[in-house]
Formats: sequence, structure tokens, C-alpha cells
Amino acid sequence: MNFQNAEFEMAAGTAGQLPKATLPEIAFSGRSNVGKSSLLNRLVNRKALARTSATPGKTATINFYRLPACRFVDLPGYGYARVSKSEKNRWAELVNGYFTQERRLSLVLQLVDMRHKPTADDLQMIDFLQAGGYPFAIVCTKSDKLNKSETMAQTKLFTELFSGRGIAFYPFSAVKGSGLDEVKALIERSIEG
Ligand code: GTP
Ligand code: MG
Repeated sequence: MNFQNAEFEMAAGTAGQLPKATLPEIAFSGRSNVGKSSLLNRLVNRKALARTSATPGKTATINFYRLPACRFVDLPGYGYARVSKSEKNRWAELVNGYFTQERRLSLVLQLVDMRHKPTADDLQMIDFLQAGGYPFAIVCTKSDKLNKSETMAQTKLFTELFSGRGIAFYPFSAVKGSGLDEVKALIERSIEG
């Protein structure tokens, strides 16, 4: 698949603004600051197509990026404590709207921070995806921040949590690019298969 020539298509702030489901979509889900935009940029080999930030809660809209054969869908991050209740409600309405619409969803990449235990919000999102029968896989981000023994311990934890449920997980580093080929292959299989 061609991962080049990605372009920003549009941002949706409400479910009513979502574009027509004309193309297969790859959605990026995860808590605020987990590295969704960084993964997206790595995949398309662009430094700043999707805006990244050390300040959580930067992406407050669903952002669509157009590739030749599909769309990348950067979902707003959840689990950021310092947003108002009305902002959280807006998020829920927007993301629920996305998942309940008839869309051509090929794959959801559910990101979790590899350094930590998945949060309650992460586990809730994973349960939602599995219960709803959505095609998804877990990407464990920021793998470059773990040393060898931490990597082993976290791999064991994720295996215990997810492998028994038939959920695949992929360690990834946006800084080093490790795991990139595996995630690309996953996307290709989801679109072609
Ligand atoms: P929101 O848009 O707020 O939901 O965040 P996001 O999930 O899009 O995260 P983003 O890609 O903006 O990354 C957040 C911060 O983590 C930035 O400072 C990134 O540089 C950093 N970061 C992302 N991925 C990695 C990684 O693999 N390794 C390291 N070391 N830092 C990373
Ligand atoms: Mg982002």
C-alpha cells in the first residue's frame, strides 16, 4: 500500500460534520498524549502532518487524513482530567457518533502506553471494541522509554491481559521507528483482506 501522499482532509467537531464513508478507514484511538498523532505521522513519513504536543488534549476534533487507498482517522484522546464536563460530553457524543455510524471501518488501532498498566479508560475502550465486534489491535507506544527488563515485564503483562482474549498487541516507538513495519503490514492486511 502507498503510505505516501497523505493529506489533511477535514476536522469534525460534531458527529453531524463527519464525512461520508466513501473509503476504508483506519482509526487511531487512545488516551490523550499516548502518541496517536505521532504514530500517524510516522506511518505517512511526515514530521507534522498531524499536530503532536506535549500538552495533552490537543486534538479535540476527529481529524481525517486522506491517503490514496484509505483514510486515517485521528480520534480525540480520552482520559484527560483537566477538561470540563461539557467538553467530556462533547467528546463522548462525537466519538460515539463515529462508532455508531455506518462507516467502512477496516481497523481501529487502540494505543496504550507501554510503560504502564492500561488505565480503566483504556480497558473500557478495549471492552467496547471487542463487544462491538470492531476489527482492532493494540499498539503499545513509547517502547523506547523502557529498558530490557521493563520491556520483558510489560510484555508479560500485556500477554496476560490480552492474548487470552485473542487480542494482538504490537510494541511501537515513534522515536526509533521500531514496530513500524508490523503496524504497516497490519493496516495493509485490514484493507486488502
Ligand atoms: P492528543 O492529541 O492530546 O490526544 O495526544 P496524542 O495521542 O496525539 O499524542 P502525541 O502524538 O501528540 O504525543 C504526545 C507526546 O508524546 C509528544 O510529546 C510526543 O513527542 C511524545 N511521544 C509520542 N510517541 C512517542 C514515542 O514513541 N516515544 C517517545 N519517547 N515519545 C513519544
Ligand atoms: Mg493527537
